[in-house]
Amino acid sequence: MTPDRAPSVHQLLAFYLEAGVDCALNDEPVSRMTDEVAAAAEPRLAYTGATAQPAMKSPGPIAAPTGVPAPAPDAAIASARDAAATAPSLEALRALMERFDGCALKATATRLVFGDGNPKARVMFVGEAPGREEDIEGLPFVGRSGKLLDLMLAAIGLNRGNAYIANVIPWRPPGNRTPTPQETQICLPFIRRQIELVNPDVLVTLGNPSTQTLLATRDGIMRTRGRWFDYDTGTREIRALPTFHPAYLLRSPSYKRLAWQDLRAIATALAESPGKDGV
Ligand code: URA
Repeated sequence: MTPDRAPSVHQLLAFYLEAGVDCALNDEPVSRMTDEVAAAAEPRLAYTGATAQPAMKSPGPIAAPTGVPAPAPDAAIASARDAAATAPSLEALRALMERFDGCALKATATRLVFGDGNPKARVMFVGEAPGREEDIEGLPFVGRSGKLLDLMLAAIGLNRGNAYIANVIPWRPPGNRTPTPQETQICLPFIRRQIELVNPDVLVTLGNPSTQTLLATRDGIMRTRGRWFDYDTGTREIRALPTFHPAYLLRSPSYKRLAWQDLRAIATALAESPGKDGV
């Protein structure tokens, strides 16, 4: 049966928004069905194959040429690992991530969301991935959940002047969708190097994805929160504590009570630890 009326622009936009579409990639729509587009796409697909590769300038160790899709996940993971290991400082790490083209999320994100706060902090918080506001501002946790995170930090005397904040994934997934396991594995060497370079005394993983990725556990946040883990930075072992993601606390405020326990445990650990040469 055909509908009586075509949907209005308003209805269509509302549908897109509900489906998670909140940004346009191009000014003009692209039909993926036409021969022309399919033909243009062919050499790009060949790039990920083992044999036929399009003629291209040497991309260097970390960058794929503009317009060419990201390399196959295994190659991208290896490339990220090699690149991250060479970064001697946070500035160098940020610069090489700006040049890294191995993660497809970069193509749809507005910008890299690297980190915020004091790089000499004794405590580092790691979330999952930037959302819309973070993507626009280029800073982690500046939207609604960021405002709550700021309040949580303030409750134990922390702020962006004495804490450091980053995400496992530094590019916003389109429509805030969950990052794929491949995307996470590609980005993992970068956040691991970032943690090693910040070298905090205490690492706080915010929510399930960050906890499971960084602390290599399959347990859910209800089991892991408030439990201390050892995290090997590559240089030393530090204490790591999972807690609820602020976005989760916004949806389920009754868990703030447990989050408060976790915050107090973080404050106690910081007070008890000998402290590095930080803030
Ligand atoms: N959620 C995250 O995990 N990270 C952000 O930066 C913002 C929201």
